[in-house]
Amino acid sequence: MREHIERVLFSAEEIQRRVRELGAQISRDYRNGGKKDPFGRPLLVVGLLKGALPFMADLIRNLDIPIHYDFMAVSSYRNGTSPGEVRVLKDLDCAVGRRDVLIVEDIVDTGHTLRHILRSLQAREPASLKVCTLLDKPYRREVAVPVDYVGFVVPENVFVVGYGLDYAELYRNLPFIGVLKPEYIREA
Ligand code: PRP
Repeated sequence: MREHIERVLFSAEEIQRRVRELGAQISRDYRNGGKKDPFGRPLLVVGLLKGALPFMADLIRNLDIPIHYDFMAVSSYRNGTSPGEVRVLKDLDCAVGRRDVLIVEDIVDTGHTLRHILRSLQAREPASLKVCTLLDKPYRREVAVPVDYVGFVVPENVFVVGYGLDYAELYRNLPFIGVLKPEYIREA
């Protein structure tokens, strides 16, 4: 699969280094007054399937605070008739009312997916709600969304795969993030 990659944008080592930094920063923030839960329950880390799985797995092992974790799965319709429409395929197993919640995403692009998730979780009245994304493409935003922790800004608008990010469900298992060679991108 490596031969499908034109160039590596973020190597496995760079990703691991950045994930360690993010883990340390998030641990510090929640230890130092960031927790608002009146019952003092552990931070609830919510991973968005499927893309966030590798990042989530590495990030939680770099959190030096008590946590619980859970997952949501959503599907966004691209190239469809209703841009920005998001459907929840799997909701959380646990309640989030009055809990501290951290959403973990692999990439924020137009912002539609995250806006939908934020609205859905906000309606359940968490004590606090923050967002951590590995990658950000701020220049692609169609709706404004708050992002509290960013691993890397993708420096140009290229299609990235690896470390959870897919093209046609492939390449999620690459340990690095790279740009796919154009000949492997089929026109829809
Ligand atoms: C990707 C990614 C984000 C979303 C970002 O998910 O994981 O959730 O798109 O795009 P947006 O900001 O334009 O909404 P995708 O729907 O491809 O599902 P996946 O995580 O299963 O790959």
